Amino acid sequence: MAGALAGRADGAIPRSAQAVARPMPEGFLSPFLIFRQYASAHMESSQQHMPQTADGVPDAIQACPVPAANAAGVAPAAANRAAAPVADPSRFVARHVAAMPKSGIRDFFAIASQMRDAISLGIGEPDFVTPYPVREAAMRALEKGRTSYTDNRGLGTLRDAISAYVAANYGPEYDPATEILVTIGVSEALDMALRAILNPGDKVLYHDPCYVSYSPSISLCHAQAIAVPTRSEDGFALTVEALRAAWQPGCKALLLNFPTNPTGGTASRELLGQIARFAQEKDLLVLSDEIYSELTFEGAHTSIASIPGMRERTLFLHGFSKAFAMTGFRIGYACGPAAVMDAVLKVHQYAIMCASIVSQEAALEALLHGRDDMLRMRDKYRERRDFIVRRFNGLGLPCHLPRGAFYAFPKVSVTGLDSMTFAMSLLREQKVAMVPGTAFGTAGAGFCRASFSTSYENIIKASDRIGRFLDSLKIDSLKTD
Ligand SMILES: Cc1ncc(COP(=O)(O)O)c(C=O)c1O
Repeated sequence: MAGALAGRADGAIPRSAQAVARPMPEGFLSPFLIFRQYASAHMESSQQHMPQTADGVPDAIQACPVPAANAAGVAPAAANRAAAPVADPSRFVARHVAAMPKSGIRDFFAIASQMRDAISLGIGEPDFVTPYPVREAAMRALEKGRTSYTDNRGLGTLRDAISAYVAANYGPEYDPATEILVTIGVSEALDMALRAILNPGDKVLYHDPCYVSYSPSISLCHAQAIAVPTRSEDGFALTVEALRAAWQPGCKALLLNFPTNPTGGTASRELLGQIARFAQEKDLLVLSDEIYSELTFEGAHTSIASIPGMRERTLFLHGFSKAFAMTGFRIGYACGPAAVMDAVLKVHQYAIMCASIVSQEAALEALLHGRDDMLRMRDKYRERRDFIVRRFNGLGLPCHLPRGAFYAFPKVSVTGLDSMTFAMSLLREQKVAMVPGTAFGTAGAGFCRASFSTSYENIIKASDRIGRFLDSLKIDSLKTD
């Protein structure tokens, strides 16, 4: 085979090799090459969470050379451009962006999707198609020629529905005219909110492990992300003690996410009350990402915005991607006190203008009539959760019961492997993709995230393969089913 594929002096591909030597697009990387590159870039510590120096500037950013002004007084940026090799466009990239890694989750997903027979427990996206009535609402909007911009804040009908939905399910009442903004998912809501509130150098507390975009989104605002570690011994619950230990002068906001990606943790009303008192004492604005709130399996979800005194210092961020299986519609919203929402609106006006009208019409249908479909999907997630958690524990990988969202977070360090090595080896040997816990922060070390937003059949097959992988490690202390 090697001989058949070897290049000929005339550069032609031998006829016998043509079937296998399909021309690859320029820049094509084999799945394993991508995997190796990803692994070496992410080994040991999470690069999503850039190490920070004492003065708050990420290490990687500090290491970047800052061009000094030259004798002729040419501005540093211009001098840098003049000195850089003509063929290297990377000189145009801002230092803090150059220092930022791409999202590791996507890399894993890309690798798995290119491997034949691979099962991905890697991606945090519902496997359900958006419920038909919601899709139909989008089609109807198109048929009716609803193809224009909308009010920057979003359709009035949708904001009215959001206001009623939030009041009924979470407690606080928001004025659709001044306190609600329709966004392109929680991703945009979070980005706009951070850009609206942060001055360079401000600090934002967030719990670790957490959704991969939190720390980079804060860094993109030239602000400093302050991780508040949570511990597996506490079921990754955020404690006020940990908040106190992490707090520093200059902290302006606290970013929360319950139920939590990747741990599935939820917060009781009592815990939220303690966190609320801490936020009041330290005068913090709370950004509360409640995107998984409908997917709460145990007890009722409580929003921190409903705790007395918190409505005026909370931005409530929510969206349709997870509970209504609407990731592709890219639609969400932010609610908060008018004075802050006015600032968020300004950023949104200039950056985005408005969310897609078709997606807004679909979101309206989801809010008005989507509840039964949402509950049906939630019940399926719960069944899968119960199965996968039982299976992980039976295989000897300790796994707490996620109380919300659709992620299991088993402890893989019991195998003696760190989370990256475990995930890499499992993918290579049994073609099952799980995401190393370190992709979500340093506190995720020793764990891997397995999304159960995939079919029951896939989960059964994947857990059988994980069992075979564990057998191959020949670790006596692991129990078997
Ligand atoms: C905690 C959390 N927040 C926000 C998002 C992004 O949501 P959206 O699709 O609404 O932008 C995700 C997606 O995985 C998430 O896990």
